[in-house]
Amino acid sequence: MRHLMNPMDFSVEELNRLFDLAQDIEQHPDVYAHKCEGKKLATCFYEPSTRTRLSFETAMLNLGGSVIGFSDAASSSASKGESVSDTIRVISCFADICAMRHPKEGAPMVAASRSSIPVINAGDGGHQHPTQTLTDLLTIRALKGRLDHFTIGLCGDLKFGRTVHSLVNALARYADIHFIFISPEELRIPSYLREKLQENNLSFEEEIRLEDVLPKLDLLYMTRVQRERFFNEEDYVRLKDFYILNKEKMELAKDDMLVLHPLPRVNEISVEVDDDPRAVYFKQVQYGVYVRMALILTLLGLA
Ligand code: NCD
Repeated sequence: MRHLMNPMDFSVEELNRLFDLAQDIEQHPDVYAHKCEGKKLATCFYEPSTRTRLSFETAMLNLGGSVIGFSDAASSSASKGESVSDTIRVISCFADICAMRHPKEGAPMVAASRSSIPVINAGDGGHQHPTQTLTDLLTIRALKGRLDHFTIGLCGDLKFGRTVHSLVNALARYADIHFIFISPEELRIPSYLREKLQENNLSFEEEIRLEDVLPKLDLLYMTRVQRERFFNEEDYVRLKDFYILNKEKMELAKDDMLVLHPLPRVNEISVEVDDDPRAVYFKQVQYGVYVRMALILTLLGLA
């Protein structure tokens, strides 16, 4: 049985197959409409979510399956002190596959080790968010036709942003990727990630000013400052509006640069950018459904 904890759990070859499947689902949704009849997805969310949980649920419903779950730790037995290991053993009796989000890093991995159904990490603390990465990669592949030969700027909270950590790991496997990490000093990428890039001789630079690097970028991945992972509100308030991408700054960018964002957006992209054809963050949400459909089929052995 297979779980998904980290985007690296799939080889590049397997990812290609998954993205082919997702794009086939996009083209021929009717062919897939009954593939999961009789199957249940459990969404166990111990942390807030709009997109991830609802896109998993939509994915399963689009496949003809059904959904159970909770969207708040307070409404589950976690509030009575039940461990994640016990909860997943219970959920395994009810559902065929589980998507779990948890504020503690590694919690979905603990669940997977005790589970008799596939477990998908839907975000664990500031660690990983593999299905957002699948969404990001599918969006880039669908809109650019490739996943190699890019200069990508990742901007914002690179310290706590789990989507960034997962995406960097995953993109590092493709040829000729140059990473530009744009963040204030306090929110730089974690040292383990920097060391990993150095050990593998990957090309990267760290910058503070977005304007200085914008003209070089093929892809810009904006992120919000992760308020819930800050130790004090004062630091958050000081850093939250460090970057605001607006129309004026977009003029510095290439005509075919894509702007991605895992959402939710707070202030870091001004709404006036939404109508720019290079802004693809709402398209990303749609790709997130196709890729989760493909993932559910793959993990259930129905692909
Ligand atoms: C991200 C997350 O939860 O890490 N959201 C999402 O799932 N699309 C990004 C974020 O919360 O900033």
